[in-house]
Amino acid sequence: MPLPRAVRDVVQTAAGRRHRADPVTPVTGGPGGNAQLTAWTGLLFLGLIAAELVTLLDVSGWMSWHVVLGVLLVPVALLKTGSTGWRIARYYTGNRPYRAAGPPPMILRVLGPLVILSTLGVLGSGLALIAVGQGTSERTWLTVLGQQVSAVTLHQVLFIAFGVLTGLHLLARIVPAIQLTTGRTHDEAGTGAPGKGPRALILVMTLAAAAVAAALILPTAHGWQQGAHHAERGRQSGHAGR
Ligand code: HEM
Repeated sequence: MPLPRAVRDVVQTAAGRRHRADPVTPVTGGPGGNAQLTAWTGLLFLGLIAAELVTLLDVSGWMSWHVVLGVLLVPVALLKTGSTGWRIARYYTGNRPYRAAGPPPMILRVLGPLVILSTLGVLGSGLALIAVGQGTSERTWLTVLGQQVSAVTLHQVLFIAFGVLTGLHLLARIVPAIQLTTGRTHDEAGTGAPGKGPRALILVMTLAAAAVAAALILPTAHGWQQGAHHAERGRQSGHAGR
């Protein structure tokens, strides 16, 4: 039985066999340049999130790294939101080159905003935990089926949503990202799109801002004695319950 058209479009895009013909305009590169910035930002995000996932092997032991990598991810996620949001805004406001480029396959068009919301949700909740401190973050809001729910739980639930949604996005977009950044796309949008210098500068400035933010926030993470405090809190509330 043939695959539904919407699924076929995503499979061909994910396999790198189907790519939007992005027009290239002078100076910034237009849609072709935008696709470049989005792809490079995506790969940068992938590198940082891979390192962040490693810290989950021992969050309490690697809390400082978990916080530093989390903070480094924020400006990169905001740049990704900005470059894709710019394409969406230009498309819906009728900009000719972006209209000519057209929208992504329907399933990715629906998935995109969910990826943005879950990414900003998990990163934003992480920053909020640092801002309010360990005590408040671990304070139980309510108990659901015997499970204590706190701000930390919310961060964990948002991480699961992020993992599923961004994982699907990555499956569909990793091959196009490599094709776009290595110039192996089917049209003139490859790495030849004008505006390479400004795009590189945007990425470097985003990373510099991320490094400054991480240096400023790191001292607040030192207070998090995750493991011992958590266990102690669990013990206290367990005794109280009995
Ligand atoms: C995990 C690594 C990621 C990679 C390798 C990646 C790669 C890509 C690529 C290649 C595109 C298409 C660019 C174009 O042709 O214009 C794209 C589109 C998009 N990306 Fe990502 N991305 C990643 C993570 C993210 C994250 C974390 C967000 C949210 C902050 C995001 C949001 C979007 C959106 C909204 C679109 C437009 C919808 C679409 O065309 O799929 N991506 N991404």
